[in-house]
Amino acid sequence: MKIIIIGASGTIGKGIVQLLAPNHKLVKVGHRSGDFTVDLASKDSIKKLFDDVGAVDALISAAGAATFGSLDELTDDSFMLALTNKLMGQVNLVRLGRSKINGNGSITLTSGMLSQNPMPGSASISMVNAGLEGFVRAAALEMPRGVRINAVSPVFVKETMEILGMDSTQGMPSQKVALAYKEAVESQRNGEVLDVRDFA
Ligand SMILES: NC(=O)c1ccc[n+]([C@@H]2O[C@H](COP(=O)([O-])OP(=O)(O)OC[C@H]3O[C@@H](n4cnc5c(N)ncnc54)[C@H](OP(=O)(O)O)[C@@H]3O)[C@@H](O)[C@H]2O)c1
Repeated sequence: MKIIIIGASGTIGKGIVQLLAPNHKLVKVGHRSGDFTVDLASKDSIKKLFDDVGAVDALISAAGAATFGSLDELTDDSFMLALTNKLMGQVNLVRLGRSKINGNGSITLTSGMLSQNPMPGSASISMVNAGLEGFVRAAALEMPRGVRINAVSPVFVKETMEILGMDSTQGMPSQKVALAYKEAVESQRNGEVLDVRDFA
């Protein structure tokens, strides 16, 4: 399959690339690096990306920015970043990209476990993760030409915890997180939120 991966250079994206590269033709997309670049916060940039890349069999998004912070710390800008980048950035990938997905292809977005398992400081991230999961379940009812859409919900990734200087013993390596994305692309699942712990 020809698969476009948004966030291919990221912690999770690298795991997906490593897992899928042997069996698929990958188009790697990042913000500043990759075969193509895009800014999820800009509809014009997303539209240009799809015009430049053309038709694909699958789209994976492993990108989307949002920040931690207590309710006292989160500003209007913090909430807007989560809304415009992680939530509407990925929603706009679907709105602008679904016509470019070949029949019976698939779209896979990324939410996160904080939608279902919040922690102090996660309000903004939990908000958009839950929004993405609701969007995917509903959008699946309207996808054209047999195109499927799912979300993958990762837990804290081991490499991310290491970068943040946290104890990473409970983290999941990105190569294991990637298994849920493989399942979303290669199975017939539709309208689902895949918990990475079920596929690791
Ligand atoms: N890591 C975790 O523990 C974890 C846990 C749960 C959920 N998630 C979610 O998983 C997704 C990926 O996380 P990650 O940790 O792998 O991220 P990451 O390591 O920070 O990588 C981010 C990726 O997204 C790209 N990117 C950054 N800003 C962008 C923009 N405005 N438009 C388009 N692409 C952009 C980056 O491209 P460049 O490298 O070119 O800048 C990079 O490829 C996010 O939605 C995150 O919330 C992560």
